[in-house]
Amino acid sequence: MENVTVIDHPLIQHKLTLMRDQNTSSYDFRQLLREISMLLAYEVTRDFPISYEEIETPLTTMPAPKLDGKKVVLVSILRAGNGILDGMLDLIPAAKVGHIGLYRDPKTLVAVEYYLKLPPHIEDRDMIVVDPMLATGNSAVAAVHRLRETQPKSIKFVCLLAAPEGISAFQNEHPDIPVFTAAIDEKLNDHGYILPGLGDAGDRIYGTR
Ligand code: URA
Repeated sequence: MENVTVIDHPLIQHKLTLMRDQNTSSYDFRQLLREISMLLAYEVTRDFPISYEEIETPLTTMPAPKLDGKKVVLVSILRAGNGILDGMLDLIPAAKVGHIGLYRDPKTLVAVEYYLKLPPHIEDRDMIVVDPMLATGNSAVAAVHRLRETQPKSIKFVCLLAAPEGISAFQNEHPDIPVFTAAIDEKLNDHGYILPGLGDAGDRIYGTR
């Protein structure tokens, strides 16, 4: 699959196994997602440009590397995206944050935006869109369509788990946008859940079921 990176570091795989276990508590689930998200952020920002700035150490001066350009914007697809957002912010505390909320109209099945809040100067920022589960791909596809309209410098999509169906749907609509995931599972079930998966990510993060 072109433009899809599976970040299969042993630490990530181990933590993901703990998350899949139905006996893992919401507290541990959140904590594990936070830890994995830090590692995902580390990988997904690997190609960020740096520039050099003259600094003084206690001993001498040196041209020291710093992240170049305007701060990255992390965009969470509500609500489960917030679980990834927290970990990414631990690693990139200066990042700007946006949120997008969509629901599916039960009659038309079209994704309807109910919330969008982004920081200013999007056109000068790299954007990382996060949602733990790329299942049918419907919400990710719709969210990215909307976010593209704001014309960020670049967009990457990061999830925890992807289904092959979700990756195909996403790539059909957004072939130019790189997808990063910790694992690609087998398939979707009849209700659009990822198998073997980990259940409903939002419910497991927030203990709503
Ligand atoms: N959303 C989830 O939270 N879990 C799935 O398996 C699919 C979509």
